[in-house]
Amino acid sequence: MKAKMTVSSKYRIGRIDNRIYGSFIEHLGRAVYGGIYEPGHETADEDGFRGDVLDLVKKLDVPVVRYPGGNFVSSYNWEDSVGPVADRPKRLDLAWKSTEPNEVGLQEFARWADKAETDLMMAINLGTRGVEEASNLVEYCNQRSGSYWSDLRKKHGKEEPYNIRLWCLGNEMDGPWQVGQKTPYEYGRLANETAKALKLFDKDLELVVCGSSSNTMPTFPEWEREVLDLCYENVDYVSMHIYLKNDENDLERFLAAPTGMDSFIETVVHTCDFIKAKKRSKKTVNISFDEWNVWFHSNQQDQDIYKNTPWKVGPALLEDVYTFEDALVVGLMLNSLIRHSDRVKIACLAQLVNVIAPIMTDNGGTAWCQTIYYPYYYASHYGRGTALQLVIDSPTYENDKYGTVPYLDATAVHNEEKGELALFVVNRNSGESLSLAAEVSGFSGYAVKKQMVMVHRDNKAVNTRENPDNVVPAESDALSFDGAVLSGEVPPLSWNFILLGK
Ligand code: AHR
Repeated sequence: MKAKMTVSSKYRIGRIDNRIYGSFIEHLGRAVYGGIYEPGHETADEDGFRGDVLDLVKKLDVPVVRYPGGNFVSSYNWEDSVGPVADRPKRLDLAWKSTEPNEVGLQEFARWADKAETDLMMAINLGTRGVEEASNLVEYCNQRSGSYWSDLRKKHGKEEPYNIRLWCLGNEMDGPWQVGQKTPYEYGRLANETAKALKLFDKDLELVVCGSSSNTMPTFPEWEREVLDLCYENVDYVSMHIYLKNDENDLERFLAAPTGMDSFIETVVHTCDFIKAKKRSKKTVNISFDEWNVWFHSNQQDQDIYKNTPWKVGPALLEDVYTFEDALVVGLMLNSLIRHSDRVKIACLAQLVNVIAPIMTDNGGTAWCQTIYYPYYYASHYGRGTALQLVIDSPTYENDKYGTVPYLDATAVHNEEKGELALFVVNRNSGESLSLAAEVSGFSGYAVKKQMVMVHRDNKAVNTRENPDNVVPAESDALSFDGAVLSGEVPPLSWNFILLGK
């Protein structure tokens, strides 16, 4: 099968905001307790943070981490998470039927984020709480001194403000599962009043309003329309969430599903722009895709935990073990984010450690990388710069749910500072390689610097503690570049990374 592509340094989608390679840590399962934090672990530092996990996180170069939820945040009292640890209450977390000991809170997580060399994106509880608690939290975090909450922070031993710039106004407020679910009118009004108060404190804070929990919600995209109509001028981003699954073991459909992510983004962008037009506004609201991943493997075992052993600290929830084919889908989802990087300015792989995560740990044992770690790693390292507008001419297949789907999916990112062009290429065809001829213009003097491929004879292959390197990218020389055309065979069912440079 033949496929063609045109890449030009002149045809640009736009400058990528590095924050599209963000991630997420929720107080859920073993993300915090047993994940990033395990005092007594042989690699733990003086704060109880696991050094092996920190190393794997740092390798990913994660620009921003959303915290502390997720559904967890919707019944969370942030005040429980600051001050002397011995005085903090244990609370029941209704979202995940677990017990929250508050050993790790805002203070500790901010310290972990510093060590992980990442920025914090904080979510505010707008499920059970409101404007006042949100304002207090922002004052505690960002006011230097001379007010009740800032002086309390100083009393807690943190002299300098945290200066957190990015805030989520609640989480999935349309979801029936959410503690404090709201109608679009109730939420839009609350989000607007909260946003107003936060911007009175600091007009440059960046605020994310909740969009629909997914594009399968019956109220999508009417929710976005009504909520944005109520708060458009006071918010900067609307959130999007998506989790893809292969619970019917239909590979063609699973690989097609990221095309639904493309149309989901386009619909939300159009909804934002409709409200912009309606309000005759000069302001553009962009997208924070702050939860995205594959999630379905752990569903049944989690139901058993909620039913039979609820209210534990750090239960093994949402511990999906990712396959080779999941890594392909994550690669395709990253391509969708890059392709829409003119409007998607923030995105968070949900999540980072143990909970639907690229990094897994054993309590008291080792840490290892799941299959999905690798496409994320390469996109985060090499997908920074300017996203280019490709013209792709690929053979296609028909899918009952997603329509006509190209076998070839690709993105290209030009890093002008480094003089590099990175290509991320997926072949969805499980039977045949794609014979690719890509015309590349504007990159004279470039040559192939690096080429990696992920393939596996077993689509269901996984990485485990015993065999952590079962599914990893390998060096490749499948494609060659003569200064004008990149050509060669893209193997069946493969994720590929090609780096051109001087
Ligand atoms: O990431 C897991 C959960 O998925 C989050 O808590 C919630 O926001 C979403 O439903």
